[in-house]
Amino acid sequence: MTDSRLQSLQQAVPGLRLKSDPADLEHYGRDWTRRWTPAPLAIALPASIEEVQAIVRWANQQQVALVPSGGRTGLSGGAVAANGELVISMERMNKVLAFNAVDRTLTVQPGIALEAVHNAASEHGLAYPVDFAARGSCSIGGNIATNAGGIRVIRYGNTREWIAGLKLVTGTGELLDLNRALIKNSSGYDLRHLVIASEGTLGIVVEATLRLTDPPSPSNVMLLALPSFEVLMQVFAAFRERLQLEAFEFFTDRALHHVLAHGAQKPFDDVHPYYVVTEFASGDEASEAAAMAAFETCMDNGWVSDGVISQSDAQAAQLWRLREGITESLAAYKPYKNDVSVRISAMPAFLAETQALLGQAYPHFEVVWFGHIGDGNLHINVLKPGDVDYPLFVQQCEHVTELLAQALQRCGGSISAEHGIGLVKKGYLGSTRSDAEIAVMRGIRQVLDPNGLMNPGKLFD
Ligand code: MLT
Ligand code: ZN
Repeated sequence: MTDSRLQSLQQAVPGLRLKSDPADLEHYGRDWTRRWTPAPLAIALPASIEEVQAIVRWANQQQVALVPSGGRTGLSGGAVAANGELVISMERMNKVLAFNAVDRTLTVQPGIALEAVHNAASEHGLAYPVDFAARGSCSIGGNIATNAGGIRVIRYGNTREWIAGLKLVTGTGELLDLNRALIKNSSGYDLRHLVIASEGTLGIVVEATLRLTDPPSPSNVMLLALPSFEVLMQVFAAFRERLQLEAFEFFTDRALHHVLAHGAQKPFDDVHPYYVVTEFASGDEASEAAAMAAFETCMDNGWVSDGVISQSDAQAAQLWRLREGITESLAAYKPYKNDVSVRISAMPAFLAETQALLGQAYPHFEVVWFGHIGDGNLHINVLKPGDVDYPLFVQQCEHVTELLAQALQRCGGSISAEHGIGLVKKGYLGSTRSDAEIAVMRGIRQVLDPNGLMNPGKLFD
């Protein structure tokens, strides 16, 4: 059965590269979530838009589900193929196609890594400012599929802000050229924005034109030690009102403990319960004085107990490693991840409620908090103890996520800030989207993917 389907695919798309070794099925069938056992039919590695279209048409004839696949660094199961789907890997479609100096755009194929986009932009004296720790492995197609955020959203926004145009192969194999990189385009629905964050459920992004900007001005990185959770938003306000913030991130002592165990350098002699890494534009006397004023205000009010400011690029990188190394340092614990957001104004109340809730709900699990506090986005990672079975651990975590989802619903937050819904959070979509909204989403999907073959089971059933 399997062989005959692959033979028919090979006939329908002559020259298409396919992989079906057990090691490949395992490798391409999963993302960074480790909850599902990969079981794809095979892996297709198209080299052109025409090949992608031909695969999608074949899938419609054969009723084979498709899972688009980029760097598979996703944290919500959006790129998992556990039910005999055909994975469409974009790894051969990974090139820069064009740079336009007048428009300040870079046109790329979806399989290109975020870091390669950074490098290409910088070769032209410009910058693509979306950035996060998985930059070397994640792909632009996946960034678009989840509207990826990261550490510079506070300054530059999410991926969505930087997509000038994109090409989509829909669930019927139609090629749509969306927005054609126009700055102004008031000609009806902006379908480009429907595709961004659609997690591969409306079609496959086969090309994207990215907006570029000026390279960032010189900046400084500061690490702050905080005595309590309650002062976090005061520290944020003290820095934000005086400085052009490029990033404002927080993590707990538990997070630091794991990063240090992975080889990072200890920043302070004393142990503190909470830390902030902030980056801000500097390089002139006024901004340096403003940074000092923010720091002194925090010290005088008892909101900050210690601090260090980078004196070189190497030291800035060292401080960033304390924040960016967290995900990798926790990976061995197969953490259950919550990636939630609220409006910044709702953050103090939400932090207090969540802290109380999790304190009661997880007395026996280690909970590691970190995240993009300047964007109202918290990552709450629960680590599996060695003596608890994984299914039982997940079951207990889901019970707490249910309570978290209720708290988010009360304060108008989101159950997924930047990781996507995927398989992991689809049971909680209703806490962030109304029934009417979900019905509209289903209707849109029906139009673009009438046979329900594009990444089925992700986002909603
Ligand atoms: C991060 O902010 O480091 C990423 O979203 C990854 C994660 O949450 O583990
Ligand atoms: Zn994050």
